[in-house]
Amino acid sequence: MEKTLIVTWWEEFLRWMGIGRPRQPERPAAKAIPLPRPPEPQKQAAAGPGFSATAGDQIRPARTAGLDRARARLRDILTPSQPVVDLRAFAGRKQTLERLISAIEDQRLHVVLYGSRGMGKTSLLHVISQRAREARYHVFYGSCGIGTQFGDLFRSILSDIPLRFHTDFAGGQAEGGRVRSLAESLPDGDLTPRQVSDVLSKLTGTRIIIIIDEFDRSDPGEFRQSVADLIKSLSDRAARVQLLIAGVGSNLSELIEHIPSIQRNILGMQIPPMSAGEMNELLDIARQQIGLTFADEAASLITATAQGWPYAASLISHHAGLAALRRGTLDVSQEDVVTAIGEAAEEVGGRLPSTAIREIDYARAKIGDSSLASAAMTHIVCGGEFTARNLAAVTEAESTTAAGTAAIDQLASEGILLEARQDRFGKSYQFLDIAVPLYLWLATARDAYRGPGVARADTSSVQAHEA
Ligand SMILES: Nc1ncnc2c1ncn2[C@@H]1O[C@H](COP(=O)(O)OP(=O)(O)O)[C@@H](O)[C@H]1O
Ligand SMILES: [Mg+2]
Repeated sequence: MEKTLIVTWWEEFLRWMGIGRPRQPERPAAKAIPLPRPPEPQKQAAAGPGFSATAGDQIRPARTAGLDRARARLRDILTPSQPVVDLRAFAGRKQTLERLISAIEDQRLHVVLYGSRGMGKTSLLHVISQRAREARYHVFYGSCGIGTQFGDLFRSILSDIPLRFHTDFAGGQAEGGRVRSLAESLPDGDLTPRQVSDVLSKLTGTRIIIIIDEFDRSDPGEFRQSVADLIKSLSDRAARVQLLIAGVGSNLSELIEHIPSIQRNILGMQIPPMSAGEMNELLDIARQQIGLTFADEAASLITATAQGWPYAASLISHHAGLAALRRGTLDVSQEDVVTAIGEAAEEVGGRLPSTAIREIDYARAKIGDSSLASAAMTHIVCGGEFTARNLAAVTEAESTTAAGTAAIDQLASEGILLEARQDRFGKSYQFLDIAVPLYLWLATARDAYRGPGVARADTSSVQAHEA
């Protein structure tokens, strides 16, 4: 298959980053970690793959105990499919955290945290919750879905808040050993923002933070209007409650449309892509907490591919760590990262809905691999929404930028993979499903190294060698 322009671009990019092609893996696998002596085998283990730990998280006392321990740590520390809840696994974000804390503590603002999927919003919410609880705030959490009703969400949040925080009820909090909640002071039936704010403005002796995550999944109409009304009402009455809202979006007004009335009461904060320093911190955590080491080229390849996106960094590092462990070592080589990128592409691709796969095929046929991959790369580099200018800047090496924009515009106009948005400052584009640009990007990176379609072949030879 002929190299696409984008693959050439990648190779240029990697050269510019000082990253060469991976060397052949050293054989035999060097620098194995010191391992305990294997116990006398009771009987021949069955051939073929098996689980490495019991479901009770006990690690087999075997020749590979050191590696098994690292594998168990890897599962806890690099968790691309779950937000980070363990502070020891949380990298960077110091500035965002400081700003967030100051907004809550000093300015008593309500905060809307927005950013692209996988940028670390939910993880940050976990960390801020822990910090707030340390400062004796009470933190309550709710998450939106399609069709979430304002009344249902707040009734469930208020049912977690003990009634003893309510001025009228301070003292008589328990009834027959049962802790009564604020929800009990609410009328039955649907709730209005006014009713919720009536209850919340009667809080005393504490400060409360109510987190509403996945706000983008809520109904843009009535639900969001009600939340905006609640913010207005809570602010007007100086209630001891602050809302911390998080959702996918590239700007504040995408999430909260009713801003003018509450502009003074909220802080919109974007969670940006991670800096190079923060990406390195993420790898340092893997070094310290798991015991992995990363060859310089391996670390550079992870950060270059992840482009500040913590989800991608976590996903690639996770697979790279596993690839090293399969070779019987804790030392992650560049080759392991290349293997990881191929596996990550396969994993992300395997999870795409069939409509997305059909649309990718259609888009490839219509505008060509290269234009599509350029758009994916621009989306990743920009951390979401991008403009024709961004596309031109990212794919500078290509002479086809104008044609590329026209191609993207055409897809967006058909609603295939992307959508376009026009405001008075111009037009911008966005992939409808973030997994699509991630898949295209990882597949392009894999092909830049391996040539299309051979990603898995070499890994099996490494494993065969290990066995
Ligand atoms: N600060 C961080 N440190 C380490 N890993 C992170 C961090 N932020 C995000 N991640 C990784 O990225 C993934 C996605 O993060 P998440 O908080 O779920 O993003 P969002 O809520 O924005 O979609 C997490 O599973 C985690 O592996
Ligand atoms: Mg989230």
